[in-house]
Amino acid sequence: EKGGYDYFMLKEIAEQPQAVADTLRGRLTDSGDLTLDEVRLTDQDLRDIDKIFVIACGTSYHAALVAKYAIEHWTRISVEVELASEFRYRDPVLDRSTLVIVISQSGETMDTLMALRHAKEQKARVLAISNTNGSTIPRESDAVLYTHAGPEVAVASTKAFLTQVVAVYLVGLLLAQVRGIKYADEVAAVVQQLQKMPEKISAVLATMEPVRELARDLASAQQVLFLGRHVGYPVALEGALKLKELAYMHAEGFAAGELKHGPISLIEAGTPVVITVPSPRGRAILHDKIVSNIQEVRARGARTIVIAEEGDEAVAPYADHMIRVPHTPTLLAPLVTTVPLQVLACEIAAARGHDVDQPRNLAKSVTVE
Ligand code: F6R
Repeated sequence: EKGGYDYFMLKEIAEQPQAVADTLRGRLTDSGDLTLDEVRLTDQDLRDIDKIFVIACGTSYHAALVAKYAIEHWTRISVEVELASEFRYRDPVLDRSTLVIVISQSGETMDTLMALRHAKEQKARVLAISNTNGSTIPRESDAVLYTHAGPEVAVASTKAFLTQVVAVYLVGLLLAQVRGIKYADEVAAVVQQLQKMPEKISAVLATMEPVRELARDLASAQQVLFLGRHVGYPVALEGALKLKELAYMHAEGFAAGELKHGPISLIEAGTPVVITVPSPRGRAILHDKIVSNIQEVRARGARTIVIAEEGDEAVAPYADHMIRVPHTPTLLAPLVTTVPLQVLACEIAAARGHDVDQPRNLAKSVTVE
């Protein structure tokens, strides 16, 4: 049941702090050690890995993109991310020392299943991240890490996505821990930060009223563009996908630095552009670059909707609308910055009179190739 919400999607958005807490529970000890019991790979297997592929479709693919930033940074293992539907139609280079991580909420997505089988034929080890116990993808994988989001009913993925992002962090931290790494202190700090994320997501959810108002205002826009850098880039892609699938509106996500290489010509007077800003306490260059990107689009007439940390005053002069999120280390930011984009898409779709839970032409689980 919808538990008092108008849509399952709104209920599932609201369940995200719990979903994230449930996915972390029992997997992080107080001393910062990680335990992933369901990962049936030995420490030696994990030490032998010299390359990682992360493969998925749709929203799960956006979690895979986040995985690249986190896992490469923490482990120094090279990570390639690929859409499942593309992976097996080329000739990917993989062998016994390759780890293939497949991410699928349903565990039944045919494109992802076929990619998994292709990886196994090449003798790669396969780790599934899935929300569905006993589904086909986890069954056929060498190891499984379940997300504990609970059943997701709305076609558009929300809480499953956030828990997939948590799961890829856990895999990255586990690999870092087993292999011994350069960033040991940082990894311990990340473990602590992860435990605070449910609270931060709740704080974001508590401040969504202005986003709902903004959504009603944007319902008549022709298009909405989303920009981000680093892990903000997959967040931009996710914001755009949600808006396309629910509101049937033209929406595109871009790596902010790519805008000047073409897409900036899409911007007209009043075009809404949503920008997620990385923490000003992280790498200064990353933050500075996004501030210039906001100025660039604003100079072309864009209406800027800026998602930035509390206390980040550098962006304020260029924001037509400001959405504040609590301080979060750069790599973990998608767990908070995605939430307002989900709410925005849901409310714009509702304002346009669409069935948010059952968008046209879409199925919850895509079991055809
Ligand atoms: C979008 C959405 C889809 C799924 C995709 C993969 O909101 O839900 O893009 O993410 O079809 O599904 P799973 O994760 O079940 O393999």
